[in-house]
Amino acid sequence: MAILVTGGIGYIGSHTCVELLNNGYEVIVMDNLSNGNIISLHRIHELTGNQIKFYNVDLLNRDRLEDIFLENKIDVVVHFAGYKAVGESVEMPLCYYHNNVTGTLILCQVMQKFNVKRMVFSSSATVYSVRGDEPICEEFHLGATNPYGRSKLMVEEIFRDLYASDNNWSICLLRYFNPIGAHPSGRIGEDPNGIPNNLMPYITQVAVGKLKELRVFGNDYPTPDGTGVRDYIHVVDLALGHLKAIEKVKSTIGVEAYNLGTGRGYSVLEMVQAFEKVSAKKIAYNIIGRRPGDVAVCYADPSKAKRELGWVAERGIEEMCSDAWRWQLNNPNGYIEEPPAIIKV
Ligand code: WQD
Repeated sequence: MAILVTGGIGYIGSHTCVELLNNGYEVIVMDNLSNGNIISLHRIHELTGNQIKFYNVDLLNRDRLEDIFLENKIDVVVHFAGYKAVGESVEMPLCYYHNNVTGTLILCQVMQKFNVKRMVFSSSATVYSVRGDEPICEEFHLGATNPYGRSKLMVEEIFRDLYASDNNWSICLLRYFNPIGAHPSGRIGEDPNGIPNNLMPYITQVAVGKLKELRVFGNDYPTPDGTGVRDYIHVVDLALGHLKAIEKVKSTIGVEAYNLGTGRGYSVLEMVQAFEKVSAKKIAYNIIGRRPGDVAVCYADPSKAKRELGWVAERGIEEMCSDAWRWQLNNPNGYIEEPPAIIKV
């Protein structure tokens, strides 16, 4: 029985594939390569010694999606495929709703046709309404503030309606806080398109000399040093949370949400300091105005995942920073094929 990973070439998807293969699962990946590089597939094979069956397929292509289910006996779907940039979603809402919501609808219809009704879904902390400074639990009020977050919330609601219509479905909604870091090998990691939106890849690109300085978006928030506080979680801890969720959906029915975070918040300047400590690199930064849409504080209460999945984040902030730095140092331009060694004759 196989695990189908949609969007398995991406940052979190590729790290999850490594852990799935290392734990004996048969893995099939479908990805349209819109936000990932096929080289990560070769790196996954290098790290695990296992082959992945890969389909270059877009979720919106129902016929090709059905081929995957015809050709493989799929037990569980881990659904990462989707656009994920908050700022871009504000500029292109229709593109985000079509890709993220319509794509998931098509996936669910095909799963239903082939009687595959177990899913782990890549959701996000952005489904929560404006947060205060207390830890966020799964019962918090839902209410996204941007099209990206709303697309995730819509999909969660679709899954609840689906289960209400057919109690054979079993779906885990994993609400990620701030994934950062990379596999300790330095062979897979975060490879954003263009200028990074997120904090850690921006810091590592400053450290490696690709970018001049970090822009700190505001230091007038009601936080200890005035800069934004977030719950950063190591991407390998996040990947391992998916394996726990697979065990859960194989043994239960229903739709359940789980926060995947550490339960501890760090400010932007604390992240800069932690990174400088592990990298011995000085990160130049300039404090500018707040970024529209940012909240002051966002961190998880991860106790439900510990109680019901038996999952706890184990990697600390220094390990997150050192693993992120190793990836960036070894891959200054992300996933580009190493030029062939020049053999002098
Ligand atoms: C973190 C902190 C910024 C960049 C986003 C998505 C969310 C999720 C995780 C998918 C904030 C500050 C950032 C920079 C900065 N993705 N910052 N300078 O916004 O918490 O969450 O990524 O699920 O959906 O919204 O992450 O890394 O962009 O920002 O000062 O160049 O770093 O203000 O306080 P965010 P982030």
